[in-house]
Amino acid sequence: MLQSGESLVKNEQVLDFDYQPKLVKFRESQQFAIADCIKPLFNSKNGSNVLVFGSSGIGKTLACNHVITELEQETDLIIPVYVNCWENNTTYKVALCICQQLDYPFTQNKKGIELFEVIAENMNQKSAVFIFDEIDKAEDLDFLYFINQKILRNCIVLITNYKDKLFDMDTRLRSRLFLDIIEFKKYTLEETEGILKERIAYAFFPEAWSNEAVELACQKTFELGDIRCGLLMLKKAGKTAEDEGALKVEPCHIEKILSKVDKYSVKGSSDLDKETRDILHLIKENGGKTTTELYELFQKNGGTSVYRTFYRKIKTLEMNKYLLVEKVFGGKNGNTSTVQYMK
Ligand SMILES: Nc1ncnc2c1ncn2[C@@H]1O[C@H](COP(=O)(O)OP(=O)(O)OP(=O)(O)O)[C@@H](O)[C@H]1O
Ligand SMILES: [Mg+2]
Repeated sequence: MLQSGESLVKNEQVLDFDYQPKLVKFRESQQFAIADCIKPLFNSKNGSNVLVFGSSGIGKTLACNHVITELEQETDLIIPVYVNCWENNTTYKVALCICQQLDYPFTQNKKGIELFEVIAENMNQKSAVFIFDEIDKAEDLDFLYFINQKILRNCIVLITNYKDKLFDMDTRLRSRLFLDIIEFKKYTLEETEGILKERIAYAFFPEAWSNEAVELACQKTFELGDIRCGLLMLKKAGKTAEDEGALKVEPCHIEKILSKVDKYSVKGSSDLDKETRDILHLIKENGGKTTTELYELFQKNGGTSVYRTFYRKIKTLEMNKYLLVEKVFGGKNGNTSTVQYMK
């Protein structure tokens, strides 16, 4: 029996965003579809390219990485490469990231294009699968054309939240790459329950959650449509219950954190500070304005941070998928960005 003040949590790691469950339930058909695109590489043919799209926190990255893990167990003849285009948003950075994965150390004083020559040389003895995650964050897409032209046997998997935005960015892309499209839909309530209940069983001691609390957590996660939010909710509810010395996590613990978890999709980072929350609120009320206009409003409302800090906070919110920031070229004040709140 649990004594008051004892830990309810057995293994907190299981609730971390980067924890990889062994099986990716409810995404079997999408994983098969991705595997089908890769299959021709086993016969030394070119694979099909594919665009994976869907909203945030619904297993896109997880499912793609899972296919890659299985591939690595299957063969040494296909080289898998994973690049997050948020962190590596130019062709040069993408090239560096790939070189690093190929254990190629002599990258200094080389231009992006030279690095790609090295990459092609290395890869053309085998086949390669490239996953470009968050592809909509890439500032140029030259690397895709390069791979398409120079790597003999390859398969490119692009992952994005915004299918249309990507094609707007470069209309030639679709025709050049002949992209198959795989949509990830939001999980149903039953699927959400299947995923969260399994995590609760791994992360907490038996009996640490009341049935009502489990049901409420699943229902709220389903409404948010984002498993990442759901996992954060489980973690925070567990912590709240522990801090109160409760014997179990009850619905009241979830209610307490719900206002905070509302679209708290925070990719691996900690809670938002007060000022960032204020900025988010401001943007919610003033969608579509430019960053300069928003900064003026921010100051009018008593905000004291300098523009640079303000802008950095907007970028953090964008990265965590609270906002959509779009560049506008050649407005009356030169290039600027507009900001939208994401529901
Ligand atoms: N079917 C599933 N089984 C177990 N865990 C899951 C499943 N789907 C998603 N998750 C978990 O939910 C979290 C979010 O998943 P993932 O990172 O794949 O989202 P995403 O669709 O790539 O979102 P984003 O567009 O924001 O990058 C991860 O911690 C992941 O482990
Ligand atoms: Mg992802």
